[in-house]
Amino acid sequence: MKPINVGLLGIGTVGGGTFTVLKRNEAEIARRAGRPIRISVVADKNLELAKQVTAGGVRLTDDAFSVVTDPDVDIVVELIGGYGIAKELVLKAIEHGKHVVTANKALLAVHGTEIFAAAQKKGVMVGFEAAVAGGIPIIKAVREGLAANRIQWIAGIINGTTNFILSEMRDKGLPFADVLKEAQRLGYAEADPTFDVEGVDAAHKITLLSALAFGTPVQFKSAYIEGISRLEAADIKYAEQLGYRIKLLGITRRKEKGIELRVHPTLIPARRLIANVEGAMNAVLVQADAVGSTLYYGKGAGAEPTASAVIADLVDVTRMHTADPENRVPHLAFQPDQLADTPILPMAEVETAYYLRLRVEDKAGVLADVTRILADQSISIDALLQREPAEGEAQTDIIILTHVCIERQADAAIARIEALPAVKGKVTRLRLEQLNG
Ligand code: HSE
Repeated sequence: MKPINVGLLGIGTVGGGTFTVLKRNEAEIARRAGRPIRISVVADKNLELAKQVTAGGVRLTDDAFSVVTDPDVDIVVELIGGYGIAKELVLKAIEHGKHVVTANKALLAVHGTEIFAAAQKKGVMVGFEAAVAGGIPIIKAVREGLAANRIQWIAGIINGTTNFILSEMRDKGLPFADVLKEAQRLGYAEADPTFDVEGVDAAHKITLLSALAFGTPVQFKSAYIEGISRLEAADIKYAEQLGYRIKLLGITRRKEKGIELRVHPTLIPARRLIANVEGAMNAVLVQADAVGSTLYYGKGAGAEPTASAVIADLVDVTRMHTADPENRVPHLAFQPDQLADTPILPMAEVETAYYLRLRVEDKAGVLADVTRILADQSISIDALLQREPAEGEAQTDIIILTHVCIERQADAAIARIEALPAVKGKVTRLRLEQLNG
């Protein structure tokens, strides 16, 4: 049967993996898709690299625009990344009636509304399984597998770099900066790790999952984002003593007044399966009304795991491209005219529990003052730990775990606690989630 033709934009790590896996599993994939899937042209600025990876079997060009306008190309795979040229190429491909498959979470989290609308108008598909959690088929699970459910919340370890760093900090008791350097040396972290360590990458991904789960447009600009660069090894240790692990979680939750959409370091009970996801692995926990909790685990990055997701989208497009566009799976799980404009809640309205670490003078009445302030804000204490001061030391650490309250209450309490003369410096505040449904 006549192959479907793919134009590949970018032959870096994921592009190379896609090329390799498509070739290796060619026959098996064709049996699934109903016809062969063939990369007919590759665009990359580095033609030497493209030549090495493709070993001469494919047409090469350094002009990506010639691919997205090529009448022989049926599907464009965009693996360039970023919002600049990638956006122009994707929109141009759609304008020329091409289906698009992309791993570009930044592009879709920020410009998804425009891109999906353009695709809808043109009757083409945009597949983005590879944009969230690499090889884990989480887009398909949320969009299709859980279609019967009212999804309540999603919490995910969706950035492997930060999970690797947190695992190493915990295992070795090392500070963030030392572990980051080691992660860069081993190739787990980029030379410029800002997007990963500051939580931006995870925020792109949870923005997409939130839209799919709750049937809203993508709302990245309203996401609350806090990374791990200021996290101290001492807090990982104290959390452990209290039975918790600290993970960088992307969280989205449906509440009565709106949707929570946030990324921050989070204490979670060490006994939860997701708390034991270590190293660069990813995992996503979904809570839904009919099925209950489901957990998805796997590799969130890397050449072949991400290629696995890219090719799954290629198979979907190959199977569905002749179908009436109205009978295809909607890009954001809900029919486009059924998207709701539910607002994202400001962080002050979010409900969560807290870990608070205070440096205090070790004298009578300090703890009473602190607990009075918490009580005044109706914040209930769940657990409390006071480190015995070392000999001759006049100060010590107090760690308090609270029950769930509204962030606004926690902010007010923390401001008052910091103003107490016996409290030294800033209160360290981390959020805590039980993730128990
Ligand atoms: N930089 C991402 C991570 C992988 O560390 O998980 C690509 O999404």
